[in-house]
Amino acid sequence: FEVTWDAEEAEKGGYEHFMIKEINEQPRALRDTLKGRTTHQGDKVVLDEIKMTTHQIQGIKKIIITACGTAFHAGLVGKYVIEQLVRIPVEVDVASEFRYRDPIVDKDTLVVVISQSGETADTLAALREARRRGARVVAITNVIASSVAREADDIIYTWAGPEISVASTKAYTTQLVGIYLLALYLAQERNTLAAGNIKEILNELKAIYAKAQQVLDNESQIKEFAQQYHKCEDAFFIGRGLDYAVALEGSLKLKEISYIHAEAYAAGELKHGTLALIVENIPVIALATQQSLYEKMVSNIKEVKARDASVIALAMEGHTEVEKVADQVLYIPKTHPVLAPILTVIPLQLLAYYMAVYRDCDVDKPRNLAKSVTVE
Ligand code: G6P
Repeated sequence: FEVTWDAEEAEKGGYEHFMIKEINEQPRALRDTLKGRTTHQGDKVVLDEIKMTTHQIQGIKKIIITACGTAFHAGLVGKYVIEQLVRIPVEVDVASEFRYRDPIVDKDTLVVVISQSGETADTLAALREARRRGARVVAITNVIASSVAREADDIIYTWAGPEISVASTKAYTTQLVGIYLLALYLAQERNTLAAGNIKEILNELKAIYAKAQQVLDNESQIKEFAQQYHKCEDAFFIGRGLDYAVALEGSLKLKEISYIHAEAYAAGELKHGTLALIVENIPVIALATQQSLYEKMVSNIKEVKARDASVIALAMEGHTEVEKVADQVLYIPKTHPVLAPILTVIPLQLLAYYMAVYRDCDVDKPRNLAKSVTVE
């Protein structure tokens, strides 16, 4: 009798890969990231790690979010959310661009850096550059006492727990929670949202982990789609507004681990070029969760269907019109539209995962990529 005990296998807790384990940990990670960050009545955000005074918050003229990779995509969601809820102009820049472009930053600029590891060289350099120019820096990070956490003025920790898989999943969704908390906190301090609205979004945020679990429980449809299309060479992700930001992350996930060429397009921009690449049977993942843009998305789906693409649409429960134009529809539970990215990204993570598994790829350690890029 021989005991074959492998520490790595044990850590995977029965899952085949870290990535799928971490995808499934999201309900817990989301709950932990929100825990203790609202008042007892649930009507206000409490962020003890933010030391900025109300006066300082009221003086912010511009926000710049900077990060790399998946964290950058969380930043793109941040732009839509902060501009909508706080009405401060937001720029988003990849850290390696920001640090070298002589950015317009001063003491009235709030710079938000997002980094799972807190050690990414470009993100850390961007943070230092921002502070050198007099900006205040808020860090959203997953690692306590990481370089980014130590050097930022204010911190919002995500409580995702260790993320081992190179492709980031639970870090992204908890970064989104960090962004929602920051946006609501700024809105509350600047009075840009009615108290009732803050409470409504916070209530929906508290309900999000159970909904994330529902999406996970419903993985069979996405697994079948992956099985059907895993031999494809190209895939397209389209969306508008917040769905566009999520489309970019879905496309990155697929590229990173399955090596399928994927493009994310703002759906309204398709006709300015990429539509030429839509050919018969090409998989198009169309995100249509934003009610205000729903009709526009239905028209964009018609455009790709007219070129015989195979369309799987993601929509919110109750919005069934898309069934008339897409080949398949996957519904996510109803939530506040600004929070939809947390739920919408999960099927895209699962799609990338199963595509990679069917293609026999090394899911947790994709070629040429590292978990944390600490040198330039
Ligand atoms: C690497 C990883 C990505 C990650 C990016 C930023 O490229 O492969 O998954 O999004 O770094 O990492 P950070 O730790 O700063 O969030």
